[in-house]
Amino acid sequence: MRAGRPAPRTDTEGNSMKIGIIGAGNIGGNLTRRLTALGHEVSVANSRGPHTLTALAEETGATPVTAAEAARGAEIVVITVPLKAVPDLPAGLLDEAAPGVAVIDTGNYYPKQRDGRIDAIEDEGLTESRWTERQIGHPVVKAFNGTYAQDILDRPRPEGDPERMALPVAGDDEDAKRRVRDLIDRLGFDTVDAGGIDESWRQQPGTPVYGMRGGVEEVARALAEASPERPADFRA
Ligand SMILES: NC(=O)c1ccc[n+]([C@@H]2O[C@H](COP(=O)([O-])OP(=O)(O)OC[C@H]3O[C@@H](n4cnc5c(N)ncnc54)[C@H](OP(=O)(O)O)[C@@H]3O)[C@@H](O)[C@H]2O)c1
Repeated sequence: MRAGRPAPRTDTEGNSMKIGIIGAGNIGGNLTRRLTALGHEVSVANSRGPHTLTALAEETGATPVTAAEAARGAEIVVITVPLKAVPDLPAGLLDEAAPGVAVIDTGNYYPKQRDGRIDAIEDEGLTESRWTERQIGHPVVKAFNGTYAQDILDRPRPEGDPERMALPVAGDDEDAKRRVRDLIDRLGFDTVDAGGIDESWRQQPGTPVYGMRGGVEEVARALAEASPERPADFRA
């Protein structure tokens, strides 16, 4: 271990997990900060290579790796790149992950501002996360997609705190979803089960819950009030 890096600690339940984070921008950087602080063993990757992640590694103790290496041995993998970059991720990305790996997808489809038209989302009516699953060939758990990156650092609260925010979490693999919800709980947020991936339109951009800073009841209500029609701003 290099000088200046904090030694790994364990989380509140004493478990240190191997976590791979692909994408080291707003969300990936802040998840790297918080998950290393909880004592997890974090590997982090971007598109330009590990040599460009030295500052984040020195700050957090995370290990900078290539995207192809990030999931190696990982019990949890976070994919947090712009949606248009998902097809560029290395083939076999999850081949060497730990058995039963839970893959968190933080992605959003911004066709007008960033991602361009993605035909399968527009024409087949796939949810964004179903499309991502097809690209990477593995089920995902959709979480953090409507959470401001800065809130990951600034708004964790202890259980029972009246200001504790809740995040919606969707996924078809119930075991993976439970493990992701446990992780988010230890990060300082409540969660609401938002159903399966075919229902994850309820938390996509433009929905009432997107960007909401509410508790469990408000988030559950916002999910229930969502309309399946994609708002015009988020269609190509
Ligand atoms: N910003 C927010 O507050 C926020 C909130 C919730 C959800 N989201 C969603 O989460 C996703 C990430 O958002 P962000 O704001 O964190 O993005 P960002 O700041 O633009 O960072 C994107 C990261 O992805 C990396 N990347 C791009 N292509 C890659 C590839 N082919 N292989 C490996 N890494 C690659 C980039 O690496 P390089 O820099 O080396 O290119 C960068 O580290 C998006 O879908 C976004 O809509 C964002």
